[in-house]
Amino acid sequence: MKVAVIGCGTIANAAHIPSYMNNPEAEIKYFCDIIPERAQAAVEKYGCGTAIVDYHEVLADPEIEAVSVCTPNNVHATIAIDALRAGKNVLCEKPAARTYEEAKKMQEVQHETGKILNIGVVNRFNDSVNLIKKYIDDGKLGEVYHVYASFRAHRSIPGLGGAFTTKEIAGGGALIDWGVHYLDIVMYCCGDPVAKTVSGEVFSKLGVDMKGYAYKDMWAGPPKFDGIYDVDDSVIAMIRTDGPTITVHGAWAQNIGENEQYIDFIGDKAGIRLQYGKDFTIYTAEHGALVEYKPQFKMRDHFQNEIDAFINCCKTGEKLPSHIDTNILTSRMMQAIYDSAEQHREIVLE
Ligand SMILES: NC(=O)c1ccc[n+]([C@@H]2O[C@H](COP(=O)([O-])OP(=O)(O)OC[C@H]3O[C@@H](n4cnc5c(N)ncnc54)[C@H](O)[C@@H]3O)[C@@H](O)[C@H]2O)c1
Repeated sequence: MKVAVIGCGTIANAAHIPSYMNNPEAEIKYFCDIIPERAQAAVEKYGCGTAIVDYHEVLADPEIEAVSVCTPNNVHATIAIDALRAGKNVLCEKPAARTYEEAKKMQEVQHETGKILNIGVVNRFNDSVNLIKKYIDDGKLGEVYHVYASFRAHRSIPGLGGAFTTKEIAGGGALIDWGVHYLDIVMYCCGDPVAKTVSGEVFSKLGVDMKGYAYKDMWAGPPKFDGIYDVDDSVIAMIRTDGPTITVHGAWAQNIGENEQYIDFIGDKAGIRLQYGKDFTIYTAEHGALVEYKPQFKMRDHFQNEIDAFINCCKTGEKLPSHIDTNILTSRMMQAIYDSAEQHREIVLE
């Protein structure tokens, strides 16, 4: 199956391209990037494909069946929609888009065209997350009434002044960039509960004084002091659903010297703490004694699982858990958190 990778930056090189290269059925025909050197570097590094600057040329090639959209968030919707309309199946990186409105438009076009549109919520292909989903589905936790998601870093704003901290490009900060994964895991494991009310606050505090910002970690590029910083660096939220109540505490940067990246699924029979991207612990009581254990299992590369499933569903038409129809719920929830924060009141979603 001939595929193209649109956007040849960090995630393309770290995950999409190597995973396509490992898939015996996929062949990368184009590496596309508006920075020609990046597309050319991929051709040279991976020894296949043609470098191209304009994604429309990729879409005009009838041999191309599927594309990965690995660009910054501001062009996810435009490129994904153009690709669907050109008859291509699409795996678009997370978040689906900058806003719920943009994501809804993507969903509409997916429904119109019938082509596949999956969002890169890669944790739906993570073995740990899938095992937790089984424990919950099997009733091992009893009623899961509360889920607490914590994605807090000490001082770790990415690429200060660049694409990640510019709302026009990214759509938001810590919530849309990290929160999308955490909320998506909660939704997946809890059977996509319907959000009823959302109350949230977002803060843009530590990066505002760009030159004065001392940091522990600056991933996604060096600071650009003449750039823009107008996104959230932390978020708190409470979401009531027809399933568990979800509370969220997230921060790219906080004046607390801990990195806490976990999700607690709290049930009346047992609870699970998932260490994000890693393993998990189950807490329960048996015969009057407190018990905790850590299941041992083999963790495969979730990006490889995601790409393999994408290639396969392009052939079979199978609807994957990462389909836009499920991810749209996370998009709506995140939008409601931003709306609630802007209006300083609870948002009722019905
Ligand atoms: N799934 C994950 O865990 C994960 C991790 C990191 C990033 N991401 C997502 O992947 C996306 C890209 O992030 P990144 O860190 O790789 O960014 P990046 O800046 O490293 O790479 C993006 C690339 O897209 C190119 N580009 C921009 N506009 C383009 C266009 N119109 N046509 C073709 N190429 C274009 C840029 O030149 C750049 O090379 C973001 O949406 C991000 O949220 C997901």
